[in-house]
Amino acid sequence: MEFFLDTADVDEIREIASWGILDGVTTNPSLIKKSGRDFREVVAEIASICDGPISAEVTAMDTAGMLEQAHALKQELPENVIIKIPCTPEGLAATKALTSEGIMTNVTLVFSAAQALMAAKAGATYVSPFIGRIDDTGHDGMELIADIMTTWSQYPWIETKVLAASIRHPTHVLQCMQLGAHTATMPAKVFRQLMSHPLTDRGLEGFMRDWAEVEAQGKA
Ligand code: G3P
Repeated sequence: MEFFLDTADVDEIREIASWGILDGVTTNPSLIKKSGRDFREVVAEIASICDGPISAEVTAMDTAGMLEQAHALKQELPENVIIKIPCTPEGLAATKALTSEGIMTNVTLVFSAAQALMAAKAGATYVSPFIGRIDDTGHDGMELIADIMTTWSQYPWIETKVLAASIRHPTHVLQCMQLGAHTATMPAKVFRQLMSHPLTDRGLEGFMRDWAEVEAQGKA
């Protein structure tokens, strides 16, 4: 089970990394834009904060262009940066080529089990189904995770990890894990929500209040 952060905000990444359970980070062109920073500079900084896989996305639409960008990123950025590729026929060919070179990939913008299967056939390291964006259309994104995991269970030789993406809330994470997804990438807000419970806060307040009295009595 891996938990990734889906952000290019280094302050958020530092905060969650300090918890000791951060396994990787995913970025995309929109998250890079939101950061307001230089693409290579921010990805290199992220890779220095978290030593797990850091997804950096190619933006070329053709296979040759994707490969050129992927090779440049692998050359210029830290070792733990992996290549995020869109789920298109051109992306599939790039994934196959990068896999044969031993370069880790994350095939993104996956909206069907068939697409996930094609990415696995190409040897993708990760495949990223977008749950929240399916929910946004009025369908159930979790059904896609279930479909993919059912398909995977028929072929134990598939090594491609299912990276649930476009996660909106903690229940998404829990349900993905209950279905056996290998990885979930989520915003920092969802990480914080996963750890938060009002009864924990209330219980801790009570313990601290009572402990203050124990201390005041010189019995600590
Ligand atoms: O990083 C890809 C994915 O997680 C995007 O999520 O919230 O833009 O649908 P979202």
